[in-house]
Amino acid sequence: MKIVGGPSSEDLAKKISNLLNVPLVSIRTKRFPDGEFYFKFEEKISGEDLLVVQSLYPPQDAHTLELFLILHTARDLGATSIDVFIPYLAYSRQDRRYLEGECLSSGMIAEILEKLGANTLYTVDVHNRKVLEMYQISAYNLTASGELAKYFAAKNLVDPIVISPDDEKDAVERAKNAAETIGADYDFLKKQRDRYTGEIVTYEKHIDVKGRDAIIIDDIISTGKTAANAAKMLKKQGARRVFVGASHALLIGEAIRLLNETGVEEIAGTDSIMNKYAKVSVAPILAEKLRKT
Ligand code: R5P
Repeated sequence: MKIVGGPSSEDLAKKISNLLNVPLVSIRTKRFPDGEFYFKFEEKISGEDLLVVQSLYPPQDAHTLELFLILHTARDLGATSIDVFIPYLAYSRQDRRYLEGECLSSGMIAEILEKLGANTLYTVDVHNRKVLEMYQISAYNLTASGELAKYFAAKNLVDPIVISPDDEKDAVERAKNAAETIGADYDFLKKQRDRYTGEIVTYEKHIDVKGRDAIIIDDIISTGKTAANAAKMLKKQGARRVFVGASHALLIGEAIRLLNETGVEEIAGTDSIMNKYAKVSVAPILAEKLRKT
C-alpha cells in the first residue's frame, strides 16, 4: 500500500505513513491564477493499492473537488485499489430531506466517490451513521471519542463525568464510549435546533455534576451553540471544570468567544481539522483499524 496525502491532510497522511511504515506517494499540486486546482502524481501508481487521505473541512467545496480530482487521476492511471480516509466527511449533516425539496448532499458525495473508483471509505464520527448506509462500497465509521477522553483524562480530573450535549443515539454512544475509556460516568442533554433559524434550545435537566469535572463530547463544534448551551448548564449546576472535546472542531465565526464566555476550561479537537485545537490525532485510530482488517 502507498499513501496519498491530499492538500487538506498532508501532515495527517505523514503520521499515518509513519505509523504503518508505508511510503507516501510523491505528488505535485498547485492553484492556477484563477483558483482552479491542479494535481499530478510524480511517480507511477499503476498497479498500486492506494490510501488517499483528505479531510473535507472548510473550505469544504475546494477540499471536496481536490479529492475528486485525486481519485479521478488515480483511477484513470490504473491504481489497483483506492481506499479513502476522509476524517471529516463534509455534507453528512444533510443526511435526509428534512424539508420538502431539499438536496440530499450526503447521497451525492457517496455517489461520486463510488463513481470515481473508491473501494473503501473510512471516516471519523460521521454525524449520523445512517449516511454510510448510502454507500455500496464498504464504509467504516471510526470514533475519536475515546482518544479525546484520554487527552482530558491526563488533566487530573476530579470525579469526571462525560456529557453528550444531544440525546441522539450516536451522540450518546460517543459519550458512553468516551466515559468507558477513562472509567467515568456519562449522561446526556436534549437539544433541538430550529431548521430555519439554526437557533438551538437545550432543555433543562438535572445532572449530577456538582464539584465534578465535566467533559462535553460531541462530533462537531460548528457555531459552538450546542456545546456552549451545555457548558452553561453544567457550570450553573456547579461543575468544577468543563472541558469540550469534538472530533471535528470547526469553530465557525463566534464559536470560540461563545465557548470562552461560558467559562470552559479547554477545547480540544482532532487533526481531522487543521487548526490550533487539533490536539488529538486520528492517525492511530485509522492505523489500528487497518492493522485489524
Ligand atoms: C449536531 O446535532 C451535532 O451533533 C453537533 O452537536 C452540532 O453539529 C454542533 O453544531 P453547533 O456547534 O453549530 O451547535
